[in-house]
Amino acid sequence: MGSQESAAPIARTAPDADFAADVLDGLSGAQKRIPSKYLYDARGSELFERICDQPEYYPTRTELGILQSEGAAIAEAVGPRALVLEYGSGSGVKTRLLLDALDAPVAYMPVEISYSALAASVAELAADFPDIEMRALCADFTQPLTLPAPQRAADRVLVFFPGSTLGNFATEDAVDLLAVMRADMGADGLALVGVDLQKDPAEIEAAYNDAAGVTAAFTLNLLTRINRELGADFDLDGFVHEARYNPEAGRIETRIRSRRAQRVTVAGQRFDFAEGEGILVEYSCKYTQTGFAEMAQRAGLRVHSSWTDPDGRFALQLLCSEDVTSA
Ligand code: AVJ
Repeated sequence: MGSQESAAPIARTAPDADFAADVLDGLSGAQKRIPSKYLYDARGSELFERICDQPEYYPTRTELGILQSEGAAIAEAVGPRALVLEYGSGSGVKTRLLLDALDAPVAYMPVEISYSALAASVAELAADFPDIEMRALCADFTQPLTLPAPQRAADRVLVFFPGSTLGNFATEDAVDLLAVMRADMGADGLALVGVDLQKDPAEIEAAYNDAAGVTAAFTLNLLTRINRELGADFDLDGFVHEARYNPEAGRIETRIRSRRAQRVTVAGQRFDFAEGEGILVEYSCKYTQTGFAEMAQRAGLRVHSSWTDPDGRFALQLLCSEDVTSA
């Protein structure tokens, strides 16, 4: 593979998301809301990495533990020479564990909407895995992709979607996303999806209300970003972070609540907040094993194997196409 380069070009296939239009639109409705993807500017991504280290935030270390203890079983199920397609690649710590465990993977293709995050993670992984072809795609993973052919043929595609990022999507959108994965992986492909499981609501709520206040800073950073990028005048002392578990829906709902009646100007438009009024900024859905399997089935997928930690906090789900019996 003499032509392989660590500084492989990053294909840009996505137009920049329209932050201004989405924020103005989201603040105009009866129920104010802003899509959670906008939490991840440079500062937000940094704060998210710090959330992962908080003692209350169990998902990251639990999933890393499963990847570590079940790596061999995962590799066995996936088989040799996989092309690994990752949706949203973050810091690359989980990717490293997976690539280490797999049997001679031929290529790694992270799909990430943030160009800077993508460039940094791919550069590090390329240095550590010189035998794996790196093909970064700067794209919106909710849209089906045209996958570039790897230099060496892959035996199958493995879509990797860790972190319970799926939980940020409401059920219908999550089913749509699973269907996109099914299209990306092809008939004999697999998907490895990390999902957070339902448990004591107090434990879940604590994970989104850490004592050090990192999650609150992460949430409220969205207002700082809007002030800076959209010329807004949100008073940071006039709003608070609120993360509550909704037991009927099985999800954390994170809102930014106004402490008082106030008016805010964003890009020249005025928005009124009542005292206590919230902006919905994130869902973090928590699943049961059967609930998740049903969702997968609606997307034409079947749970091939499921690995959890000893306490059943988190699950790594290996999915195949529903009609495949031999995977
Ligand atoms: C990375 C989206 C899975 O929902 O648990 C962590 C983001 N938000 N704390 C999650 C998050 C607040 C995280 N995901």
